[in-house]
Amino acid sequence: MIEQLRGLKDRALAQIDEAADLEALTQLNVSILGRKGELTATLRGMGSLSPEERPVVGQVANEVKTAINDAIEARTSALSGAEQQLKFAREAVDVTRPGRAPFTANLHPLTQVVRELLDIFTGLGFDIAEGREVENEYYNFEALNIPADHPARDMQDTFYVAPGTVLRTHTSPVQVRVMEQTTPPVCVVAPGKVYRHDSDVTHSPMFHQVEGLMIDEGITFADLKGVLHSFIHSYYGPQTGIRFRPSFFPFTEPSAEVDIQCVFCKGAGCRVCGRTGWLEILGSGMVDPAVFGCVGYDPEKVQGFAFGLGVERIAMLKYGIDDIRLFFENDLRFLKHFG
Ligand code: DAH
Repeated sequence: MIEQLRGLKDRALAQIDEAADLEALTQLNVSILGRKGELTATLRGMGSLSPEERPVVGQVANEVKTAINDAIEARTSALSGAEQQLKFAREAVDVTRPGRAPFTANLHPLTQVVRELLDIFTGLGFDIAEGREVENEYYNFEALNIPADHPARDMQDTFYVAPGTVLRTHTSPVQVRVMEQTTPPVCVVAPGKVYRHDSDVTHSPMFHQVEGLMIDEGITFADLKGVLHSFIHSYYGPQTGIRFRPSFFPFTEPSAEVDIQCVFCKGAGCRVCGRTGWLEILGSGMVDPAVFGCVGYDPEKVQGFAFGLGVERIAMLKYGIDDIRLFFENDLRFLKHFG
């Protein structure tokens, strides 16, 4: 029996040594020392021993039990140490790694562009004026010398909110409102939203314009050219080529559209500029005497110029954006470029 016990001990110690994890050890504890375990089963045979043999075998049994117990304990603490090490390794935080940058918001690109434009014009001495987005037909059309049968009045282009009331189709009505409330000189820029029934890759039903107006005695077309040259050279760079092209607007006479040398091909001709080397960026002209008549200015005494530009177009040309809808989809991947 002593042989049996020693054999049991050797086997048990070997198994304990090989136990891979705490779970395996618990099982060994049960299968060897437990109530139905091997050792218990062996000790049951003690009943058949002689009274002299019993204490001897009992002592060996105790030694075996203590040895197994000690081995389990030692292996348990070794394994839990190792498991803890593993856990630490798994959950370790490498404090030397660079942190993940927190998401920081930035102004919408259009807001940034409007602010840049206003900075340039206020630097040239312009004040900032604002009108209203819901406008009377009178200010949006009549007072700007756009007669009732003008195509721009067509329901196709203009959003009517009520008879005689429109969502303004341009910022030009601000000219009229400002002149009504000011005696010359006038020198303002007016940024804001405008609305047209129009939607494709370069047109949005809502977009932004900046209007400019300068009125005083003796203002000439040369002043218009000077102001627009300064503006274009500070926004697109001093090397940018500029040309004035005769055009027509009901509220200016003479009128001109202004082109800049294509910012993509530098004038060589490309897809964006339609191979012309030029990009149209704004409309302008000398304020028509008919408009002065509507606001009570004497066209014999004061003269002035006006201009109007589309902010989205200006921004698209500056940043090489080919779809206006990107400005309004609020896709962070797009907006983040302007951080
Ligand atoms: N209001 C015009 C438009 O929306 C742009 C414009 C052209 C404004 C000439 C002006 C101007 O002040 O002089 O198309």
